[in-house]
Amino acid sequence: QKLEMELDSIEKGGYPHFMLKEIFEQPRSILDSMRGRLELGASHLNMGGIRAYEQKFVNAQRIIIVACGTSWHAGLVAEYLIEDLARIPVEVEYASEFRYRNPIITERDIVIAISQSGETADTLAAIELAKSKGATIFGVCNVVGSSIARATDAGAYTHAGPEIGVASTKAFTAQVTVLTLLAMIMGQKRGTLTDTKLRELMVELDTIPAKVTKALELDAQIREIAEEFKDATNFLYLGRGYNFPVALEGALKLKEISYIHAEGYPAAEMKHGPIALIDENMPMVVIATRDSSYEKVVSNIQEVKARKGRIIAVVSEGDKVIPAMAEFVIEVPHTSEVLMPLVSVVPLQLLSYHIAVLRGCNVDQPRNLAKSVTVE
Ligand code: AGP
Repeated sequence: QKLEMELDSIEKGGYPHFMLKEIFEQPRSILDSMRGRLELGASHLNMGGIRAYEQKFVNAQRIIIVACGTSWHAGLVAEYLIEDLARIPVEVEYASEFRYRNPIITERDIVIAISQSGETADTLAAIELAKSKGATIFGVCNVVGSSIARATDAGAYTHAGPEIGVASTKAFTAQVTVLTLLAMIMGQKRGTLTDTKLRELMVELDTIPAKVTKALELDAQIREIAEEFKDATNFLYLGRGYNFPVALEGALKLKEISYIHAEGYPAAEMKHGPIALIDENMPMVVIATRDSSYEKVVSNIQEVKARKGRIIAVVSEGDKVIPAMAEFVIEVPHTSEVLMPLVSVVPLQLLSYHIAVLRGCNVDQPRNLAKSVTVE
């Protein structure tokens, strides 16, 4: 038994849970997902998988992204990225809905399937459907040789390494990294992203692993916040723009492993309903980093405060305005708006982890969930 416990601890690299190990692996796994693809000083990015299909991507009339769960959230980030940088219309679909609703797909469409495991039944079925209609299928998978990786025409592996915790963490940031590179490549090829802007983004992307390392240093502070909120029964997560999918992802992480009901919302949607939920018992995680919607998110925070909601704000380092308004402030390193999800998601992963541990939940194997959902 002692040996078993020791082996277990070795496997977890000294961390008490795989999830925490995987959260802390992110500076490394993000770097691995960029390796060979991003080289500072180069005039372009490299992605082997896209080469043979470059013209298809350049001429695509539309991109459809299919995925489930956390991978679907990465797909939402990709929608913002691809529309922003490459100006191709993107639709993000739950694979489970897409496969059953007689979708319109043509040969000029590109379908990007995102899956950590590469074995998700709904995503695989969505791919088969799109294939039968003649679309080109590009996979973003973590597990090499998985069913989805084999079913696609081309693809890019995320290289995050094995993810054991049921709650996806490092796979998400690796997916977002690969999708960012893809959007940058498409933007350059289509002429919608200038070389100067491309270079700027390359330089900034290169700093992300170090910024994630800094965000991980917030662990002790976030544990304290978790203490304060561990008995909450509900949580709201708000974000706008690139941080909207991050809000959804933060809420999913909390639901999955701590069994606290949580919802993610685009901050501006609050006034169309959820604002009715706010009282002194409602914790709100607001992602309010310095970007083009910052001022608007600040007014959303004011609205929440006026209704006595308890605010935990994730802000850019050095923010002077929000600390005066929020009960708890988590300062993350600042980066370009389009890369922010890679940094802003980290404190949310840690928050859900600590809340789950404090509630005595089985973090790595939450009830009713499997690591890959190979049934409908
Ligand atoms: C994430 O934390 C979940 N466990 C789940 O939503 C997961 O992302 C989803 O089942 C998709 O899995 P995949 O990436 O392996 O296809």
